[in-house]
Amino acid sequence: MPLIAVVGAQWGDEGKGKVVDLLAEKADLVVRFSGGPNAGHTVSNPYGEFRLHLVPSGIFYPHTRCLIGNGVVVSPAVLLEELEHLQKKGVDTSRLSISTRAHLIMPYHTLLDKLEEEARGSKALGTTRSGVGPAYMDKVARLGIRAGELLDKEGLLQRLRFVLEQKNILLTKVYGAPPLSLEEVYDQYCQYGDCLAPFICETEPIIKEALEREEIILLEGAQGTLLDIDFGTYPYVTSSSPVAAGAFVGLGLSPKRIDYILGVCKAYTTRVGGGPMPTELGDETGESIRQIAHEYGATTGRPRRCGWFDAVAARFSAYINSFNGVALTRLDVLDTFASIKVCTGYKVNGDIIDQFPSSSAVLQRCQPIYEEIPGWQSPTTHLRHFEALPPLAQSYIKRLEELIACPISLVSVGPRREQTIIVRPIL
Ligand code: IMP
Repeated sequence: MPLIAVVGAQWGDEGKGKVVDLLAEKADLVVRFSGGPNAGHTVSNPYGEFRLHLVPSGIFYPHTRCLIGNGVVVSPAVLLEELEHLQKKGVDTSRLSISTRAHLIMPYHTLLDKLEEEARGSKALGTTRSGVGPAYMDKVARLGIRAGELLDKEGLLQRLRFVLEQKNILLTKVYGAPPLSLEEVYDQYCQYGDCLAPFICETEPIIKEALEREEIILLEGAQGTLLDIDFGTYPYVTSSSPVAAGAFVGLGLSPKRIDYILGVCKAYTTRVGGGPMPTELGDETGESIRQIAHEYGATTGRPRRCGWFDAVAARFSAYINSFNGVALTRLDVLDTFASIKVCTGYKVNGDIIDQFPSSSAVLQRCQPIYEEIPGWQSPTTHLRHFEALPPLAQSYIKRLEELIACPISLVSVGPRREQTIIVRPIL
């Protein structure tokens, strides 16, 4: 089974970093295909605890090559800081490659992300303000600057002069902000180019050769299906395609290639930023989940909104991505609850629905219909086999499988690699 995609099934932060770090042990290539420094993949392993924003979570294994695909938007500043941190911790980063086609986050993207959010006022999306949205806008508007352009300083100056002229009109005339200096931005990006040049290359041949050699390739998704630009809770979404299909255009892969799609779900739900979340708990229970699980954004430090597992949303994700299996993470967070709820449908305008609506306005009005399940109230973090789990925990997992209509392949009961129960082998 050489090509496996690991995709977020909820609103991001499902624990994809841990799952990829675990599976990467057997992988030859680990690849990011979408998103940018808005991601924060928490990985806890013998090197320490890391929050990776751009570097694929496979970087810790000496035999694994890592690749940042064309679908990713790269902030050179964030990437260089991350590489430096990894190197200081003794991690070899020389096996990283960055696609020449990956778009760059420029200083005006970060500025515009902030200015646009401020201008939205009470309708702010709650972005990570890392410039991701404006960078994807420029990609589609054909105003983007790509990593490969850092290797041609003369060409870069010409492109930057043209683009910055337009951006400065926007910054000064629309937002009343000071203009950016061409010289400063150019010098800065030339320096970034010098530092990143050893990593930037044509990545398609790397993937092609790995496929020909039938090597194990892991596609590391970022964000989650419910933040997808098309299938998420629009407009409260990110600007890329975190769904499995995003990997085809985000890397240059044919849809024929993927062998296994693993959806990652938390055993409950979280969301950071604005937008509807039917199972959000604004009460003590929500606060308990936040405290037990330390649910604060890995990129922004914002408290995450917490709530019960939403099976309507998870079933929708399973369909959109066609998951072969699900990795259920953070089961241990529910260890102390006397009773656990699962949302099995929504009540809206007097009707009961079990489909995830396309309209955020409708989803905002949806009231969750809950099934109540008794909690197992005993620790699970030390358990390593499904049969060793308390019977009520086993029943919870089996019920989620039924509701999502997808087998649960892996259960995570703690942040460390070994705190994982393999229910059905993936590799
Ligand atoms: P942006 O991706 O920074 O433009 O933010 C758009 C929305 O996606 C906001 O609600 C963010 O909080 C959310 N978001 C972006 N990246 C992540 C992530 O990695 N985890 C969780 N939420 C995210």
